[in-house]
Amino acid sequence: MVYSSKHLIGLSEISREDILTVLDTAKSFREVLDRPIKRLPTLQGKTVVNLFYEPSTRTRISFELAEKRLSADIVNFSASTSSVKKGEILVDTVKNIAAMKIDMVVVRHSSPGTPHLLARVLDANIINAGDGGHEHPTQALLDMFTIREKLGKLEGITVALVGDISHSRVAMSNIYGLKKMGARVLVCGPSTLIPRYIERLGVEVYHNIDEVIPQADVLNILRLQLERQRKGLFPSLREYHNYFGITRERLEKATRRLLIMHPGPMNRGVEISSNVADSDHSVILEQVTNGVAVRMAVLYLLAGGRSEIN
Ligand code: CP
Repeated sequence: MVYSSKHLIGLSEISREDILTVLDTAKSFREVLDRPIKRLPTLQGKTVVNLFYEPSTRTRISFELAEKRLSADIVNFSASTSSVKKGEILVDTVKNIAAMKIDMVVVRHSSPGTPHLLARVLDANIINAGDGGHEHPTQALLDMFTIREKLGKLEGITVALVGDISHSRVAMSNIYGLKKMGARVLVCGPSTLIPRYIERLGVEVYHNIDEVIPQADVLNILRLQLERQRKGLFPSLREYHNYFGITRERLEKATRRLLIMHPGPMNRGVEISSNVADSDHSVILEQVTNGVAVRMAVLYLLAGGRSEIN
């Protein structure tokens, strides 16, 4: 199978078949990560720029490792140490980088639509590593990969996205991807943190986490995006934790074994208790490992690879 698009900008824009192609290809790369020698020559001669205008730990390191595992040449750009500090605008920065003959751009930016803009002005393949509150497609792909690895399928699985849905690009990409793959998606949080009309995307809305836990196979617990919120969306962090925090006591009410996921970074003691984050229900660090394989798959497919790799 081949991936049918030039870019990966959002899961709202790609087909179920393309999502499946990425997930199947990532399976082969996941096996490569367990080999003593993890390096493949796949992207030899290709140059990838990692353009990060927002802080990142997991996504940035994961992309860089994926590129290294595939033998690409890598350039890392950080807005805080670049001529952005002297007032250079995004389009000028990327045109200058493009003039240095790059093949792929991985971009994270606080403005939704930045990857679309780059796709219009550059010849390179564009990969969205998170654009404002719009989408974070590789995070959702690695979440879906992890669910599929653990539960064997996505179709018919009930996934609850818990917390700050309004400010979460992870939530949006998960909703688009999971719905395309036939999962049932619940969203749960205070009404101030759930967008109006989100039901139109085919999700069910809950405001009581204790009604959600008995129905779910997976809880994907989202970070409270304190940096993107205006004040007054909930009374206090303590109150948020009391009503929506995922605690061991709450999980004891589950009727089946739940998979606990979190995209990171976590606010321990707010949206998730430490004894849940570190429990054997948690696959949070497996998500991170799988993220490298998923990003290797995306890079490989955008470079023209087929899903049957050697
Ligand atoms: N999940 C995620 O995007 O984490 P970072 O912000 O650390 O990249």
